[in-house]
Amino acid sequence: MNYLKLLIVDDDPRMRESCAMLLGLMKIKLPWLEDEYSFKILETGTAEEAQSIIDEQGADIMLLDQRLPGLQGTDLLEYIAEKGLDIQTVMITGNATLDTAVNATRNGASEILVKPFTPEELRASASKAAKFLILQRIVSKLDEERKKTRFEFIRVLSHELKSPLGAVTGYLNIIKSRALGDDLASYETAIDRSLLRLEGMRRLISDMLDLTRIESGVKARNIEDHKLTEIISDMIEGVKTAATERNITVTADIPDFTVSVDRVDLEIILTNLLTNAVKYNKDGGNINLTAHKIGRALKIQCRDTGIGMTEEEVTKLFKEFTRIRNEQTKNILGNGLGLSILKKIVSLYNGDVSVTSKKGEGSEFTVILQGVVN
Ligand SMILES: Nc1ncnc2c1ncn2[C@@H]1O[C@H](COP(=O)(O)OP(=O)(O)OP(=O)(O)O)[C@@H](O)[C@H]1O
Ligand SMILES: [Mg+2]
Repeated sequence: MNYLKLLIVDDDPRMRESCAMLLGLMKIKLPWLEDEYSFKILETGTAEEAQSIIDEQGADIMLLDQRLPGLQGTDLLEYIAEKGLDIQTVMITGNATLDTAVNATRNGASEILVKPFTPEELRASASKAAKFLILQRIVSKLDEERKKTRFEFIRVLSHELKSPLGAVTGYLNIIKSRALGDDLASYETAIDRSLLRLEGMRRLISDMLDLTRIESGVKARNIEDHKLTEIISDMIEGVKTAATERNITVTADIPDFTVSVDRVDLEIILTNLLTNAVKYNKDGGNINLTAHKIGRALKIQCRDTGIGMTEEEVTKLFKEFTRIRNEQTKNILGNGLGLSILKKIVSLYNGDVSVTSKKGEGSEFTVILQGVVN
């Protein structure tokens, strides 16, 4: 249970008591939030004491009588504004002239409640103030998280770009200083490695662009009917060379049906599954790709007899720049972006991607795309 501190400031003790009773039992719930909120009631008869309560304990919402013995309600509002505090205030006034209303709202009150008011009116005002506050907090938390994620993304990205740059600079310096003599052939390895690192950088940049395009919704999507077998055999063809080099067999079992998808989306999903299944396979291993329809959904499964992952490793997947680092993967090149791109595309189809894997035995990736089968 979450609490919001509600401070009642009224010089009439009976008024405070009945408000406290009514509001103390209330539960605030927003339709899409699991959490329920209730009020923790604080009360006082003067604005002076209210100031010390606010200073010492803080308050989220305030029910404030305009007419008080010493300092007035509006004075307290000024005090709160000066301190830069954000307290949702419901102002209680006896004579609701336009002037008091204007004055109170100008001073920061979010609502005016005119005496005499019914229990329902009181509850409605308190509930409105609480909901406003809860929403405001959610928005600022989301904004904080967005900033943090962005920072983390840029931090990792710069790191990922810096390491190939450093490597290529190192190789170029070796060449420039003729460290290996005057024969160009001696530099072949340095040149090949530089080209490989540059290719990695180029892929990283193009993956980053894909990611940002998908996330910002800028990526134009062109949903059309395609024969599934055609796209799949094209994609398998694409990994054939890399697979054959390592004696890996790729088989597919795809019934011939049509799917309505953006071809590029499906190609990205399949290439990521297949290149991973090749990269993280053992020499002489197998890959099996199957697809079938479940109602209007398309289910694709890619199984490999590769290095597999532990349960803990599996939980780390699908986040940007995640790579499982161990003895078996340390020489395999990758940016750790493939699966996060795949996941974002799958979400465009309200779909789902899941993995089961066994260390040393292999992995099975399952992708479900909703509403693509006619
Ligand atoms: N089929 C698989 N078998 C075992 N491990 C896998 C498999 N697929 C992915 N992984 C692990 O998950 C990590 C993340 O995969 P992902 O495709 O996102 O990145 P990557 O392959 O490292 O780089 P790239 O951005 O080039 O795809 C990999 O680094 C690898 O450790
Ligand atoms: Mg990959």
